[in-house]
Amino acid sequence: MTKLLTQEEIYNSLKTKYSQYSPDFELQIKAGQMAKLNRLVKEKNAVILKHNYMSWDLQCDEVLGIRGDSLELSRKATETDADTILFLGVKFMAETAKVLNPKKTVLIPSLKAGCSLAASITGADVRKLKQIFPGIPVVAYVNTDADTKSEVDVCCASGNAAKVVRWAMKEWKTNKVIFLPDKFLAQNVANEMNADIYFPNMTVDPKEVQKDFALRVNNSVPNTPIFIGWEGKCEVHEKFTPHDVDNLRHDFPGVYIMAHPECPPEVVKKVDFAGSTGEMIKKVTSPDIQDKQVAFFTECAMVEILAAQHTNVLQVCSIQKRCPHMAQNNLETVIEALEKMQFEITVPEDLRKSAELPIRRMIAIK
Ligand code: 13P
Ligand code: SF4
Repeated sequence: MTKLLTQEEIYNSLKTKYSQYSPDFELQIKAGQMAKLNRLVKEKNAVILKHNYMSWDLQCDEVLGIRGDSLELSRKATETDADTILFLGVKFMAETAKVLNPKKTVLIPSLKAGCSLAASITGADVRKLKQIFPGIPVVAYVNTDADTKSEVDVCCASGNAAKVVRWAMKEWKTNKVIFLPDKFLAQNVANEMNADIYFPNMTVDPKEVQKDFALRVNNSVPNTPIFIGWEGKCEVHEKFTPHDVDNLRHDFPGVYIMAHPECPPEVVKKVDFAGSTGEMIKKVTSPDIQDKQVAFFTECAMVEILAAQHTNVLQVCSIQKRCPHMAQNNLETVIEALEKMQFEITVPEDLRKSAELPIRRMIAIK
């Protein structure tokens, strides 16, 4: 068993790395909270899974746990032998961990940690789409509730979306795919694959939608892949604009810009690299950008910790955006979660069973 750091050791470590973020007395308090949290993790035989959007005082190495993007954390959730998984992220992520680990206790520090993408679609919507477009495989972004996942063929994350779409088209022997619910991610992946994209009008008679879609297929270049999309958006990434990219390039000539693929396609087309949170973090240390200033179009908590670790990372206030759902996680709510063993995630067994296959397929696609 690894020896836990004392409060003093944690404080000394924080002081060398994070004194620009908190005054000294606050670092002392945080060090005490972190020591308490680490003790609770051991006592409860828990594992903390931390999404890359956690604030620096949860994301830091001084707090026990495993960091990652949605795909990496889904994989980690299948590998743990801890009794309890405490998920520092949002509800759909903790639910994914529960679907994969029905016998374990899965906790989330706040039930308010939702997601605008997950909220944009339900299982009933997917059933309706499948009736309108029979035989077309359904790919759902992992940012969906278990109810939605239980109706789809395969899930994907931002880090493997194109791979999953190619897999689904091959398995179903078709050049069409239903890709839900993120409009911008769908457009970005479709652009990457030189595919066409169609957004059905769900308010009109389904027969009209089928006619309209058939017309669109007839008019498209033969063999062009076709995505059927949905109008969901991430409330954080939809706020970035191409104008932000232009301003940044004007003010910081030579800047290397990375963006999350939940940003609008007009933004993604103008940046130097687009990828999942994990892929962007990996890219920061790549030798080809070491002598450049680097900026991110993504959730700002991740940028804050990267700026503390890499002197070339810019924290540009005008483009900083915080996800209010991710922000529900803080040292106080996280400690309380383990003390009171709250808030437990439950998924009805019938939904869980149906949601498991699409998630396992996603994890298996390498
Ligand atoms: P990643 O899978 O890239 O970590 O993204 C999750 C998310 O919620 C982005 O907004
Ligand atoms: Fe959902 Fe966007 Fe927040 Fe990610 S950043 S959890 S996609 S609202």
